[in-house]
Amino acid sequence: MDPDLADTVGAGASADRKQRGAWFTPRHLVSSVVEAVVDDDFVEARRNRPISVIDPACGDGRFLVAVRAAIERRGGSARLIGVDIDASTLDSIESTAGIDTVCADALSTGWLDSVQPEGGFDLVIGNPPYLSQMAAATTRGGSSGRGGGPYMDAAAEFLALGMELVDPEGGRLAYVLPQSILSAQDAGEVRRRIDERSTMIWSTWTGERDFDAQVVTCALAFEFGRRFGDANDGNWSHVVTERSGVPALASVFERTTSEAGSLGDRVRLNANFRDEYYGMIPAVGDHASGPPLITSGLIDPGRCLWGERPVRFAKQRFTAPRLDLAALDDKMSRWAEQRLVPKVLIANQTPILEAVCDPNGDWLPGVPVVAAYPHDANSAVATAWEVAAVLTSPAASTWAWHQRGGTGLGPTAIRVGPTMLAELPWPDGPLDAAIDALRSGDVERCGALVDAAYGLSAPEQESAMGWWQVSLDRIGRRN
Ligand SMILES: C[S@@+](CC[C@H](N)C(=O)[O-])C[C@H]1O[C@@H](n2cnc3c(N)ncnc32)[C@H](O)[C@@H]1O
Repeated sequence: MDPDLADTVGAGASADRKQRGAWFTPRHLVSSVVEAVVDDDFVEARRNRPISVIDPACGDGRFLVAVRAAIERRGGSARLIGVDIDASTLDSIESTAGIDTVCADALSTGWLDSVQPEGGFDLVIGNPPYLSQMAAATTRGGSSGRGGGPYMDAAAEFLALGMELVDPEGGRLAYVLPQSILSAQDAGEVRRRIDERSTMIWSTWTGERDFDAQVVTCALAFEFGRRFGDANDGNWSHVVTERSGVPALASVFERTTSEAGSLGDRVRLNANFRDEYYGMIPAVGDHASGPPLITSGLIDPGRCLWGERPVRFAKQRFTAPRLDLAALDDKMSRWAEQRLVPKVLIANQTPILEAVCDPNGDWLPGVPVVAAYPHDANSAVATAWEVAAVLTSPAASTWAWHQRGGTGLGPTAIRVGPTMLAELPWPDGPLDAAIDALRSGDVERCGALVDAAYGLSAPEQESAMGWWQVSLDRIGRRN
């Protein structure tokens, strides 16, 4: 066992730990976060008074202890407050003199009045609990009281809380957080509010599960009341993209205001719901006829592997699954009818965008495949090919990473959803040759021609193609 992890044992019994998100931070990560925010300038600016510091989910107080050492090393003094919902966890820090503890649900009201310094805390620091809203054991069961959507992880609520606690004029906030915080749609409002009031002064991301939390983490630090350059508008995916070699394609992003509009101007995008998944189950089988069921795993860039690669659906294995339309109930029959039209199907968790064109409307999308249906029925086939070509390009994949880097289950994938895809800027240039290339199976040529249609400069084309090709090769080798 990693020696850093050995002392997580004190975090309590496992079921209870899960519910409180009680996974303690390894010492080396605590040190890097503390050194990033407690620097000479920070201490010097507060030379004549104790520096107020709070960890609103402090566990055994390891962040506070490290902060005090860093402040004292620089000749300053500290006033430390540790909050935790779990009394027995707080007991473990009683022996560490000098930390005032509060046993409370930090997200509730009432506990703060007795400890909040005038003007706010100089430093808010810690590793708040990550409580997935997708899991029954940890969901709060609805929207957060601090803005953001119903699926916003509890960590984002602690981020919003940090903003309420910190001194808005020069205070600092530093947290270890799940990487999904960087791009998850439901945390977008919290990110925008932070960006309005502060500057991200430091970040780290390794792409690894840094400790025994079940997710990939990042660490971020902000200084409030200070703004360098342009507002980030709540897009923090750069924390991942800058470290994972995703090219920065300024000229593509500038096109968000282009007259060519966006993907959503051409197609309606959606993904099936859970009900539709359950509705499909009785109809799916290796039948002799019926529309093929296309799952995410069958979608490669420009190529559908139905019939070539086996599929797992509803815990069963199929070689060439089709839907028996006669076995669908009325609601699902209407669902199928509306989907058997020209369209593009797009995989959901991928290292690069993976899209296939269904010009004859033969296929049915599985869950959680994203489907793009042309708005204009008269030109549906042509539009479907255009959309499939545009998505099969280094430029589009790069753009997607800059929107959603950090949303994947692992470090090398992103979650591709309808809302994000609808905003993909559309290229100004011609697409006919790219479509021809895609139809003939030449995915690389399609990508190069779409990049040219986006107007990428030669160096941009080269770096984007080099990056895209790595994933393309890996996908090719898999088959
Ligand atoms: C991820 S652990 C981190 C602990 C410590 N900050 C560290 O980095 O090692 C999260 C801590 O938050 C506490 N916690 C969970 N929900 C809380 C809440 N609503 N208010 C305050 N503390 C909470 C848990 O008991 C646990 O000790």
